[in-house]
Amino acid sequence: MINYNITGDTMFVKTSLPADPAELHALILENLRGYLDASLPAVSNYSNMSAILMHFLPRINWVGFYLREGEKLILGPFQGLPACTEIAIGKGVCGTAALLKETVVVEDVERFPGHIACDSASRSEIVVPIIQNGNLLGVLDVDSPDLGRFRSADRALLEQAVDVLIDNLR
Ligand code: SME
Repeated sequence: MINYNITGDTMFVKTSLPADPAELHALILENLRGYLDASLPAVSNYSNMSAILMHFLPRINWVGFYLREGEKLILGPFQGLPACTEIAIGKGVCGTAALLKETVVVEDVERFPGHIACDSASRSEIVVPIIQNGNLLGVLDVDSPDLGRFRSADRALLEQAVDVLIDNLR
């Protein structure tokens, strides 16, 4: 495992992060490749990935995982306010992404029928399914307090981030 420090020193200073989104996204992927490790238990990788995304992504208020157990998604490691603990597959944004096995981007959560409100600050959301060898393991959910926060570059980043995660889940 690479002994990697998120900022190159012991400080976690968000203002020192690159302003250029492409550079920031490259740094996020570099950190994920550094921290995630296939020899670790899955919970450690989910936990560090949620911390890395919360640290680096601006204008987000919640990031974490819902993990599949049968026909339900169960709250997994996350950063943000306490959240609902169970979501049926097919319900809410998370359950919809799990059912479709596709990324769902919601520009305005109030206009998504069946959206499940966990943090009242959330205004937009993206959910990326985690599919390993055809099996749905769960979803990555990211919420923002800003409308229309998640653009195509964010979607591409988060899908690549989930690919790094999948490569490191045993
Ligand atoms: N909004 C999600 C529920 C999870 S929270 O956002 C953390 C949904 O509609 O599935």
